[in-house]
Amino acid sequence: MTELWQEKVHDEARQGEAYAPLPGEEIAYGRKFYIESYGCQMNFSDSEIVASILNMEGFGATRQVEEADLVLLNTCSIREKAEQTVRKRLVEFRSLKKQKPGLLVGVLGCMAERLKTKLLEEEQLVDLVVGPDAYRTLPGLIQEAGDGHKAVNVLLSRDETYADIAPVRLDSNGVTAFVSIMRGCNNMCSFCVVPFTRGRERSRDAASIESECRDLFNRGFREVTLLGQNVDSYHWVNEQSGTVVSFANLLERIAQINPLLRIRFSTSHPKDITDHVLEVMASYPNICRYIHLPVQSGSTRILQLMNRTYTREWYLAKVQRIREYMPDCGISSDIIAGFCTEKEEDHEDTLDVMRKSLYDFSYMFMYSERPGTLAAKRYEDDIPEMVKKRRLSEIIDLQNRLSLESNERDLGKTFEVLVEGNSRRSDDYWMGRNSQNKVIVFPKAAYPGLQPGAYADVTVRRCTQGTLLGE
Ligand code: 5AD
Ligand code: SF4
Repeated sequence: MTELWQEKVHDEARQGEAYAPLPGEEIAYGRKFYIESYGCQMNFSDSEIVASILNMEGFGATRQVEEADLVLLNTCSIREKAEQTVRKRLVEFRSLKKQKPGLLVGVLGCMAERLKTKLLEEEQLVDLVVGPDAYRTLPGLIQEAGDGHKAVNVLLSRDETYADIAPVRLDSNGVTAFVSIMRGCNNMCSFCVVPFTRGRERSRDAASIESECRDLFNRGFREVTLLGQNVDSYHWVNEQSGTVVSFANLLERIAQINPLLRIRFSTSHPKDITDHVLEVMASYPNICRYIHLPVQSGSTRILQLMNRTYTREWYLAKVQRIREYMPDCGISSDIIAGFCTEKEEDHEDTLDVMRKSLYDFSYMFMYSERPGTLAAKRYEDDIPEMVKKRRLSEIIDLQNRLSLESNERDLGKTFEVLVEGNSRRSDDYWMGRNSQNKVIVFPKAAYPGLQPGAYADVTVRRCTQGTLLGE
């Protein structure tokens, strides 16, 4: 039973997924591109912008790499492992290039930004290197690379938000979509490479966000996830009217599009999430009761070294505040094991914060030193790999227990579930999510006529650590 209902959702399982057009959206294009995306949701969302730019250039998407004239990897630099995966993939593509002269291989995203021309110096590996703010220049770069020149653009921008580019929803379930609301990051978390690879924080025009969401709704989509590295610092000023739109204001605007449109968002920084945001969430049932609130560490000393600007007490008070506004709110976290100088007592503090916050889910990592970051410059990566591994596995064990307990608390409860599609394990079951972002699988037979995009009230009868099973 346990095995059967493990529906993997928000994890790195999507890594390297290739895109393909939605049925009925295939158009005959002269040339074909193949794209794989790695890393965060923002990267997957960027690939949809890239797809749109390429479509306008006469490139259609393909899932078969052998068919492609252009192969793109949209890459991630967050941990060393992410970069190694991409390197392996590039080596695999090298033999493809040998078989197919003229095939262009490009690296997009954070690794392109971090490594710049270094990627081009390696023999016959890469023809194009394009950073996250330079996708508009792809057509020219493809032309240059096609003419045999090495093509690079890794300029970061202060204002690029791709606001006017309608993303092409490729490989979509037609029900849920990601909408980018800002780019870059101004938080200087000492472990993190993102401020260097994605540049300064900037917010996208609120009206363009609203019209993208409205358009998605009109096309049958029923859930949007508003994306940003730090959504709570969203800030848009309408130059003409002088009106300021905060994240709380934006949430409210999107929630008012239609009560049938669900709204999610990610990621929240504990230091920035305001009572106003919680108030708006609590007053609109279509804003999902779920907050991803990365703690990173439960030790105040380590948090300070990480430059997170809050203490463990401050974080726990924030969790408390969320639960005051919304007692049923799901909360998840990101946790790093083995940051520089981490002692056993710091690690214990992390486990303690996990127990007190009762996370429904967490993404858990071993610290990986990234060149150029504040931590790499200031602190020694001094925790032995073995210790990092052991601490991580203790964190994972605890989270597994907390997830199971959280799911067990839901037994017997009835949730409104938005149906996303077939369960991965069986076409006789639907898979959807409740407001708290938990995956619920339930038999189709009990709900005749139900289709993806519809809502169903489902009562939870059984569960595993990863999934609720309903009737
Ligand atoms: N090492 C390990 N994990 C990291 N993260 C970010 N940078 C690093 C790093 N250098 C984690 C953080 C962040 C998530 C996206 O990745 O937990 O929230
Ligand atoms: Fe990876 Fe961070 Fe870049 Fe996303 S922003 S792709 S997580 S490095």
